[in-house]
Amino acid sequence: MSEQESHSAITPFLSAESIEQRLREMGRAISEDYLERTRQSPLHLVVVLKGAFIFAADLVRQLTVPCTIDFIHASSYGSAKTSSGKVAVKHNLAVEGRHLLLVEDIIDTGLTMQRITAELAALKPASMKICSLLDKPEARLHPVEIAYTGFVVPNTFLVGYGIDYDEQYRQRQSIGVLNS
Ligand code: IMP
Ligand code: MG
Repeated sequence: MSEQESHSAITPFLSAESIEQRLREMGRAISEDYLERTRQSPLHLVVVLKGAFIFAADLVRQLTVPCTIDFIHASSYGSAKTSSGKVAVKHNLAVEGRHLLLVEDIIDTGLTMQRITAELAALKPASMKICSLLDKPEARLHPVEIAYTGFVVPNTFLVGYGIDYDEQYRQRQSIGVLNS
C-alpha cells in the first residue's frame, strides 16, 4: 500500500515546507526578543510532551540565543478526539528565577496551558511565555495568552508533525485533518 493510500483519511493542511518556513520566522522573533534577557541566564524551554516534541526539536535549532531545555508531561485526551476536561501534569522542573518559554503543539480549550502555567507560576520563574505551533481559538474555554503562534487553525482535528490521534500519526512530516 502506498503512503497516500494508507493515510487516505487524512486531508493535507500544512506542508512540511510551510512549517519549516514559519519556524524560521518564529526562531528569529524569539531570538530577538530574548537577546537582552539571555545575557544573564539562558532561555529555558519547557516542552509539553508528547505532542510538541518534533516542533520543539526543530524550533530549538532556529534559536540563536543561549537556551536550555526540559520537558513536562501533560495529557488530557486519552483516545478520544475531544478533551476529557481533566489534565494530568507530571514534572520535576527547576524553574525559579529562570526565563521560561513553554512550547506546546496545540492550544485548544486552553485547559492544559491554564493548568501548567498555574503550577509553574507558583514556582516563581523570572518570566514565563507561551509558544504554540497551532492555535484553535474557536475551541477556547479557558483564556490563554500566547506570545508566539505558528498558525491559527480552524476547529478541526489535526494530526502529524508530533501531533497524534490515539498515539498514531506523530511521524508524519506534514499536518493534516483527520477525517472522521
Ligand atoms: P486543551 O487543554 O484543550 O487546550 O488541549 C490541548 C491538547 O490537546 C494539545 O496539547 C493536544 O495534545 C491535544 N489536542 C488538541 N487539539 C488536537 C488536535 O486537533 N489533534 C490532536 N491533539 C489535539
Ligand atoms: Mg499537547
